[in-house]
Amino acid sequence: MFDKLQAKWKVKGWQLALILVTFAIGGSLTGWVGRKLLGLTGMEHGVLYYVLYVIVITLLWPMAVILVSIPFGQYPFFIKYIKRIGGRMVGKSHARVVEEEKELAVGQLAVGNQQPSMDDGQNKNQSQIPDPQSLTPNHTKIAVFASGGGSNAQKIIDYFKNSSRATIALIVCNKPGAGVLSIAQQEAIPSLLIDKEKFFRGNGYVDELKSLDIEFIVLAGFLWKIPIALIKNYPNKIINIHPALLPKHGGKGMYGHFVHEAVLAAGDTESGISIHYVDEQYDHGRTILQVTCPVLAGDTPDLLAKRVLALEHEHYPKLIEKWIGR
Ligand code: GRF
Repeated sequence: MFDKLQAKWKVKGWQLALILVTFAIGGSLTGWVGRKLLGLTGMEHGVLYYVLYVIVITLLWPMAVILVSIPFGQYPFFIKYIKRIGGRMVGKSHARVVEEEKELAVGQLAVGNQQPSMDDGQNKNQSQIPDPQSLTPNHTKIAVFASGGGSNAQKIIDYFKNSSRATIALIVCNKPGAGVLSIAQQEAIPSLLIDKEKFFRGNGYVDELKSLDIEFIVLAGFLWKIPIALIKNYPNKIINIHPALLPKHGGKGMYGHFVHEAVLAAGDTESGISIHYVDEQYDHGRTILQVTCPVLAGDTPDLLAKRVLALEHEHYPKLIEKWIGR
């Protein structure tokens, strides 16, 4: 139940705890103040008393929770929550709420349909769709594609968490059980586990991505080649990061420790990162940014990998921000 709430409200565990505490204290405060107020009227505990009590606490409750939410740092959540409940109660924004719920259901269907091997217990949120209320209309939606642990994905998510311009709206992964799926779950970001046959057939997952309004695609350790249909539908809107100085040490099979082993075997004195547009060949599109680091005497693939990964974490999120805003 807590998992569901966390995902629904797009909050972290600790925030959910504060929200629940706010609900509890706000509720008790409402009851207490309501009884005190009615006590002032000197009324008997009859039907009228209880009718009035319900009216009073209905009016008091929003104020009480908003008040309590301030010291707990949950004011932004409760303002949105109460506006939404209020909208439903007065029926004013009911149409909008229904529209959003419809949108949600359509999205779930779109994503849910495409999942080949769902739910081994770890990937519970794979068919979640972002709560439209949590995104402003001007949020640029970015999908991160990853196949592995997802340390870059995590850095990118963190970087855009408080952005008013862009959000990581979807994690796309081709590997059941990959670390990046747990990150998506923890961060309450929807994820899509893709099927190889569908990915490379016809339009692949283009419709699903478009239906989620994904505008940019960022590859962060995604090991499949990007099919031409996706490239055509996202012209100059897909980038990749490679842990070496392309055009050296790139291409099929050049990933992870293979790259760093190749750098060391070649006797290179420097390595680094390359961020580039994605075309139909592995690690081939136009370079956007390269940042170098030295290869040191006594380096092992692991030592070099760490140095390069630190550069990725530092530069990729910032570059993405510039790139989407250009
Ligand atoms: C990174 O080294 C990236 O350059 C490469 O794949 C790796 C992904 O690492 N394309 P992580 O999963 O983000 O830790």
